[in-house]
Amino acid sequence: MPKQSSEHPNVWVFDHPVIQDKLTRIRQKNTQHTDFRRLLNEIAGLMCFQLSRDFQTMDVEVETPLEVAKGKRLAEPVTLVPVLRAGVGMTDGILQMIPEARVGHIGVYRNEETKEPVPYYSKVPADIADGPVLLIDPMLATGGSASYAANILFNEHGCTNVQMVCLVAAPEGAARLREDHPSMKVYTVSLDQCLNKHGYIVPGLGDAGDRIFGTL
Ligand code: PRP
Ligand code: URA
Repeated sequence: MPKQSSEHPNVWVFDHPVIQDKLTRIRQKNTQHTDFRRLLNEIAGLMCFQLSRDFQTMDVEVETPLEVAKGKRLAEPVTLVPVLRAGVGMTDGILQMIPEARVGHIGVYRNEETKEPVPYYSKVPADIADGPVLLIDPMLATGGSASYAANILFNEHGCTNVQMVCLVAAPEGAARLREDHPSMKVYTVSLDQCLNKHGYIVPGLGDAGDRIFGTL
């Protein structure tokens, strides 16, 4: 299971060796988009498998070919909300674990000069608040984009159970989310050192969207 950061208690770090191995390959600058995408989805699936342990279940009965068996099903609808565009790069991996999940989208990009989020799209299921929501974005830098997306989910749609799934988080973004959205856990594979003067995570992995989609 992920470990809670002592410095940023809203952040939970997946230190599993297999996940850490994949992150190291992703970080490498000569990893091309085909491998980058595959590794990112593999990590997302592994993370989701563990963090979904907290999802509510309900008791059900099913008929096997022999007799009735007691079992469990997920009790609430699960919704994934990737932040466009890099969040899309983790979504398929999670859908492989929970194929019945619905997928909303929030479109926001960062103004490269001001570092402020610029919103351009939002579409989520009307009953999104009826179950757990995973807000997905591989990069948590200043936290502006994630905080904006979380505002939409908590304030416009009344969600109460939102967790963020990212790959690399900066301490600055972790602190911002703890301040803005204290109930939201942030699951990550690495809490990196800091942001550089351009707002990029160090050591990070560069521009996630460009590396996922091959638009460098
Ligand atoms: C990246 C990333 C996050 C955001 C993080 O997206 O995927 O959404 O930056 O930065 P922040 O925490 O400082 O807001 P980007 O703005 O590059 O947009 P893109 O995915 O469309 O390329
Ligand atoms: N967005 C990215 O894609 N990478 C960073 O390091 C910061 C923001």
